[in-house]
Amino acid sequence: MEWWRSAVIYQVYPRSFADADGDGLGDLSGIRSRLGSLKELGVDAVWLSPFYTSPQHDAGYDVADYRQVDPRFGDLHDFDLLLAEAHSHELKVIIDLVPNHTSSDHKWFQEALAAPAGSPERDRYIFREGKGRNSPPNNWQSVFGGPAWKQVPGEKGGPGQWYLHLFDQSQPDLNWRNPWVREQFRDILRFWLDRGIDGFRVDVAHGLIKKAGLPDADYGSDAKPFSEPYWAQPEVHEIYREWRKVLDEYPGEKVMVAEAWVFPLSKLANWVRPDEMHQAFNFAYLGTPLKAAALRKVIRQSLAAFGSVGAPSTWVLSNHDVVRHATRFGLSADSPQGDGIGPKSKEQPDRLLGLRRARAASLLMLALPGSSYLYQGEELGLPEDVELPDSARQDPTWERTKHKRYGRDGCRVPIPWEKDSPAFGFNSTGKSWLPQPELWSEYSRDQQDGTRGSTLELYKSALRSRKQFNLGTGRLDWLEGFQRNVVAFENGEVQVIANFSAAPVELPEGSILAASESFSGGLPPNTTVWIRKTV
Ligand code: GLC
Repeated sequence: MEWWRSAVIYQVYPRSFADADGDGLGDLSGIRSRLGSLKELGVDAVWLSPFYTSPQHDAGYDVADYRQVDPRFGDLHDFDLLLAEAHSHELKVIIDLVPNHTSSDHKWFQEALAAPAGSPERDRYIFREGKGRNSPPNNWQSVFGGPAWKQVPGEKGGPGQWYLHLFDQSQPDLNWRNPWVREQFRDILRFWLDRGIDGFRVDVAHGLIKKAGLPDADYGSDAKPFSEPYWAQPEVHEIYREWRKVLDEYPGEKVMVAEAWVFPLSKLANWVRPDEMHQAFNFAYLGTPLKAAALRKVIRQSLAAFGSVGAPSTWVLSNHDVVRHATRFGLSADSPQGDGIGPKSKEQPDRLLGLRRARAASLLMLALPGSSYLYQGEELGLPEDVELPDSARQDPTWERTKHKRYGRDGCRVPIPWEKDSPAFGFNSTGKSWLPQPELWSEYSRDQQDGTRGSTLELYKSALRSRKQFNLGTGRLDWLEGFQRNVVAFENGEVQVIANFSAAPVELPEGSILAASESFSGGLPPNTTVWIRKTV
């Protein structure tokens, strides 16, 4: 069976994983030096967030050259070394592709700015005349807050056209109805495939095509999105069909995974039809509260939706855009994507409860058939940094919303490797682009490695058993006879029981393979266990 159908894929956020040159920002050589730890953890693949040339206004999701490594992260030679070493550890490497927008520093955009309205250069992006002198072409809002249009000077220095930026103003949206743009990206795919990468994570894969005529959005009455004519337009699928053909020219099962915030799951399944992408992130799962009925429903729907098009389901609890799940699960309500948590947030997380519930959730996730995504640091049970000083914040969301939303910096802080080293082993100088909280010393990897009951050992043993019992390629059968607030299923020889009720649960006979907490007697609340059936 193809490797990606059951793979556990670990997201490395290059800025914050390991910093070999000590400047406070992680880099490719740093990642290479720590690959052994990922092998030991037992994952199958690594997904690297962007490391390309970029002014870093959106942490590298603003790409100024798709074929070059930003000098802050290294160079192409460092990339080749990293790829080769990952492969020598039998780790696949997936890289991030950011096709919805470029950086405003990109040559294509600079040329568009220098060219007159109506020119082929401007047609690479979405330039339009405003409605009036000072009013943008339509009412679209940026995901990071504020209007999604910026006006540029006209030819004679007066007010000129407006360009669309669904994200920061330094991220102009490309015009994917232009065949020239499509051709450029097919070449970019080939550039990296020729270097030997194993696939792409496709950023904002639901956004490339905007509805013809760019009609106003309807944001509903309470500022909640209602109809946004820039997401999930049907013509976007043509692009992925073209890309799939490119990938299929290469041997070795190359993959594409869609970052598409599309709901419901039955609609998201269109992204992974047999001639399109291979996987899509399951954000419906990520957003599900730890309640048994809700979990059973989303698992059932995921398996049905992806299964109906022959794709594996994916599962994910954390990434670089959301509050870490060890913190989310310590709150009474979920924190909307991009809001973050800070010192003045209404509710502060219960850290111990959050960790306990996160461990239960992760152990449940890793038993599900399909492919799972892990975000660096979750194997340490790392919480969100909720005490980041405002002066350190870098996510554009913070400024664009005039400090209403904290943004995503709290999950992006460099991770701790060794308790007693500078910057907890992130580098040897102690510098860190976002300050690390003192509290993280106790979460350091060296404190958990080989320590019974640590979160790291829990992940390691789960990943070992997952392989041994082929859970990733298995089949899920629900177990009956448990009380309502318990999720219980069988995947081959393994029974999985997750107790989200308030009372202990009696367990079936069998030997315990993994447990998210140590216990004796019944399975305590907020605990998951894997049991090998006695036959
Ligand atoms: C995706 C990325 C996010 C980025 C945005 C714009 O959602 O995951 O980090 O800010 O796209 O590229």
